[in-house]
Amino acid sequence: MLIKVYGSAVFGVEATTITVEVHMDKGIGYHLVGLPDNAIKESSFRIAAALKNNGLSLPGKKITINMAPADLRKEGSAYDLPLAIGILVGSDQIKAPEVEQYVIMGELSLDGSLQSITGALPIAIKAKEEGFKGFFLPKQNVKEAAIVAGLDVYGVENLQEVIDFFEGRGTLEPTVIDTRTEFYKTLDFPEFDFSDVRGQESIKRCMEIAASGGHNIILIGPPGAGKTMLAKRLPSILPPMTLREALETTKIHSVAGKLKEVGLMNQRPFRSPHHTISNVALVGGGSYPQPGEISMAHNGVLFLDELPEFKRDVLEVMRQPLEDREVTISRAKFTVTYPSSFMLVASMNPSPSGFFNDPSMPNTSSPHEMQRYMSKISGPLLDRIDIHIEVTPVPFEKLSDDRKAESSVEIRKRVTAARELQSLRFEAFPNIHYNAQMNTKQIREFCALDEQSKQLLKTAMERLNLSARAYDRILKVARTIADLDASPQIIPGHIAEAIQYRSLDRDGWLG
Ligand SMILES: Nc1ncnc2c1ncn2[C@@H]1O[C@H](COP(=O)(O)OP(=O)(O)O)[C@@H](O)[C@H]1O
Ligand SMILES: [Mg+2]
Repeated sequence: MLIKVYGSAVFGVEATTITVEVHMDKGIGYHLVGLPDNAIKESSFRIAAALKNNGLSLPGKKITINMAPADLRKEGSAYDLPLAIGILVGSDQIKAPEVEQYVIMGELSLDGSLQSITGALPIAIKAKEEGFKGFFLPKQNVKEAAIVAGLDVYGVENLQEVIDFFEGRGTLEPTVIDTRTEFYKTLDFPEFDFSDVRGQESIKRCMEIAASGGHNIILIGPPGAGKTMLAKRLPSILPPMTLREALETTKIHSVAGKLKEVGLMNQRPFRSPHHTISNVALVGGGSYPQPGEISMAHNGVLFLDELPEFKRDVLEVMRQPLEDREVTISRAKFTVTYPSSFMLVASMNPSPSGFFNDPSMPNTSSPHEMQRYMSKISGPLLDRIDIHIEVTPVPFEKLSDDRKAESSVEIRKRVTAARELQSLRFEAFPNIHYNAQMNTKQIREFCALDEQSKQLLKTAMERLNLSARAYDRILKVARTIADLDASPQIIPGHIAEAIQYRSLDRDGWLG
């Protein structure tokens, strides 16, 4: 008798259904075909132990298991459960007439309990699409899968529960999570709120502009100035995620196995990798490809604290994904793509010794050291940062002022209004949602200047010795400032403010 059981394989953020065919014959043996990797080949040992510890056994027959489609590489130990069920049904140890209506995934421990899997959300989405009735998976992952409506999702602790279900015993109930309820379960007060930050009005204004136009930003200031504190609060003023964005981001975290029993992520992620991070951990990859930090930050914020401390080649590998808003990882037999659309926030000290423009502190770095420090971040990455702002520590009187500053919720209202104007502006451009994404052609179309603004920009370019690359950046940021003013036209005041946000282009910084 040929038994079919269904599992699933995840590539990138999409799943493909895998058919596990089990055939029993006379003789003794365990043959696994269909491009399984070593972890799957070792399944026979785990399955044998798990069965034995549950009063069952690997039958004394020749077991042939085929995993189809054969050309697709299957990885990891999460096929233990479907293989075990297939063997039990194939050897008549259990009766499971309905088994073909379910997708089954989970790694078995030797005692028959189940270990968590990765990619439960994409697997559930696929199972629903293909008309499966339900999905069995380890309890640890049940919430992320249960947000898929119209699929019976069963979180199970061990093999026995699955057997009991198929044999009509037990009381297993599907987990039901209403996506909309989960989605609107927003926190009234964000964990990190701008109202905690004393003073720093001009920096907050600057971050409001960055959030409004989706502009990447670098904060330059001495240790303790509040750079990290400010960066952490950026997600709280970005517009709330749409349901589509929430699903996209949740999928990536599901594939990375990092959801920690959350159903749907409805808050924008904030990722802050340490500067010693490897290329693979930052952009994704590995022999079993996994999403990197830039994809974990999808639809949220990636914070590179102490930017010049990152290895240059690590920053280099980010360049393409930053441009494409996705990262492609190629292996000999397959290619996977992970989305990586995030806002970049970087921070740096003004000099390797930490202090440069603080009059109360001596600058102990030599010009040579300064140049080396700056050269580490110049070029491709810095080219993609629209806004540079210097952060000076707030004086003590302001720190001790206990008047509450404006809350993130208030700031976010203005940001959202400015984003709405941008959505209308870019209605005809499916790949553009906010000002930072404009290319040169669109900048010319949407950032036309009046005579007075033109003159102002020209004078500033000359006087401050601004680079040519600063020009487009200033126009984009001015467009965003105008949007915050609900002004169709960019006026000289908008240009004047945008010019201020190019600290690193001025003489003496990047040399
Ligand atoms: N403007 C501010 N308002 C309130 N607290 C501040 C402010 N600036 C700095 N701090 C305090 O100083 C600490 C250090 O700031 P941090 O953000 O780590 O500085 P940096 O990242 O620039 O070195 C913060 O955790 C916060 O407690
Ligand atoms: Mg810091």
